[in-house]
Amino acid sequence: MCGIVGHIGPKDSVEIVLEGLSRLEYRGYDSAGVSFIDENDSLQIYKKSGKLENLKGLLKDKDYKARMCIGHTRWATHGEVNDVNSHPHMKDHISIVHNGIIENASSLRKELAAEGYDFKSETDSEVFLALITRELAAGKEFKQAMLDSFKLVEGHSAFVVLNENVLEIMSIKKGAPLVCGINTVDSEAFVSSDPYALAGMASQLYFPADNVLCHLSAKNKNLINFYDSEGNPTDDFMSKKQDMSVGPTDKGQFEHFMLKEIHEQPELIRSLTQFYFHGEGLESLKKAGEFVPSKFHISACGTAYYAGLLVRDFLEMYNKIPCSPELASEFRYRNPLLQKGESGLFISQSGETADTLAAQELCTNSELKTLSIVNVDGSTLFRNCDNNLLIRAGIEIGVASTKAFTQQALTGRLLSLALTKELNDEASRVKLTAKFSLLAEKIDHLISRSEEIKVIAESIHNHKGFFYTGRGVYFPVALEGALKLKEIAYVHAEGYAAGELKHGPIAMIDEDMVNVALVGPELFEKTVSNIQEIKARKGVILSIGPKDNEELAELSDYYFGIDFDGLDELSPIYINIVNQLLAYYIAKYKGTDIDKPRNLAKSVTVE
Ligand code: AGP
Repeated sequence: MCGIVGHIGPKDSVEIVLEGLSRLEYRGYDSAGVSFIDENDSLQIYKKSGKLENLKGLLKDKDYKARMCIGHTRWATHGEVNDVNSHPHMKDHISIVHNGIIENASSLRKELAAEGYDFKSETDSEVFLALITRELAAGKEFKQAMLDSFKLVEGHSAFVVLNENVLEIMSIKKGAPLVCGINTVDSEAFVSSDPYALAGMASQLYFPADNVLCHLSAKNKNLINFYDSEGNPTDDFMSKKQDMSVGPTDKGQFEHFMLKEIHEQPELIRSLTQFYFHGEGLESLKKAGEFVPSKFHISACGTAYYAGLLVRDFLEMYNKIPCSPELASEFRYRNPLLQKGESGLFISQSGETADTLAAQELCTNSELKTLSIVNVDGSTLFRNCDNNLLIRAGIEIGVASTKAFTQQALTGRLLSLALTKELNDEASRVKLTAKFSLLAEKIDHLISRSEEIKVIAESIHNHKGFFYTGRGVYFPVALEGALKLKEIAYVHAEGYAAGELKHGPIAMIDEDMVNVALVGPELFEKTVSNIQEIKARKGVILSIGPKDNEELAELSDYYFGIDFDGLDELSPIYINIVNQLLAYYIAKYKGTDIDKPRNLAKSVTVE
């Protein structure tokens, strides 16, 4: 999704904004731009399709001393990828950047064009610029022009506006991420779509509620003032110290962030039980376990949804709590049956996924308690839920989620413990801690066998299609494994319940189709018989299953044996590491952009 960064202060605003935008590159984008007030107090704008480097190339010979700047990385929704449609958009003394979608843009565009506004771009965002321009031309103050314009747009959006006449920045949002920040030492004010862009810059963060107007000005005593939709001062925002450091955002010795993040998993797993059993996470875990609902409605998107299927297995297995997992984009419009006493459980890495936020809002409006399993502290989902369990995955730069999936599933396992009295039992905590560290140890060993996986990937990477099959608790990771391959290798892959292939899809099996069979110790014989059905039709078999198994080795074209011993319910998370590495190496052989796959965004903040 689009990235936004704004700055006011005595330092070089353009450099600060460009640094912030570079930290948001991982989210995916197709153009970038900045507008700033130069030393003569005049508004400048530079924008370019393509990577941030293209924009920096435009700026490199420019001599400017900017003290106020807004910048944007665009992930195109309305209007093709080109310079004109890039943000910011500027008219007279105003420039704007936008994240989200103005759902009534076409009707507003018609109205404004009829009034004589000359649109330059195909974007919906420029409609907001036209509205602001009209309100200011009618003689309204900047603040009132912002509030009145914002009331006219429908849909989820965040806007940041730079005004040359008053040398101020204003921002406002509804249903889209926006965070403000200050650094009082250097008298700086910031605004962004992602707190990570402000790491190491702002010392205090403010997360405004929807419809709160944020007014950044060097003239403000506190640098940022907040107003409600009527223009009155408000404290309708959450404030917190900036605790994100600019961690190592380089790849270190790794060729891709995705591979680095796969390798980070064992350490993250070990630290998760430390955080929840012996650290500041214990309180939130106890709180999450206080209310035992009659049912969990589990809602998420993509990989997070597949993690939700594993969490469903834990909650039904250990807590006997019925769960209804559902894709958030379906749940939000299906008018689901929601009863008092039930809970909504929302799983998300970013905490900004539009469909998941809408699902959460639906549950809150139906008076259900809501709980998130989320990575970004202070994200919109985090702020909207009654309780939250952080997955402690750190910044996930790779668009294809790996460590977040693992941490989401494991945090769900801890929730399951918290919903029983065992959380208070030291022996139970020790036992689960030992299982988590065994998982970490096995993943470390599995990673040391990456070369074996790479060899398999080289052999199969040119096949036309892939089925990932699994039974029971391995079906969710069959879905996740297929998604990984689709996302980063652009290969057609389907996750299927192993027992379901014969009900139609087996018609697709031939010598150019690969079946990645995820074979756990459970239901072993049944899964093997499904593999035999595929073998009989000349499908290519890659079995990932219990080690030293002659039957599997005999049956498969490729066999990767792993040691499940002692993992029990964590086995699907373990086998999924092979999926992650297999997808990674297949993508490498395909030569795709593994960290920033085409068409994808790290956080889908629009419907
Ligand atoms: C996962 O590899 C994808 N990037 C995507 O499916 C992602 O899981 C989905 O968009 C949900 O994002 P979230 O976890 O930030 O809500």
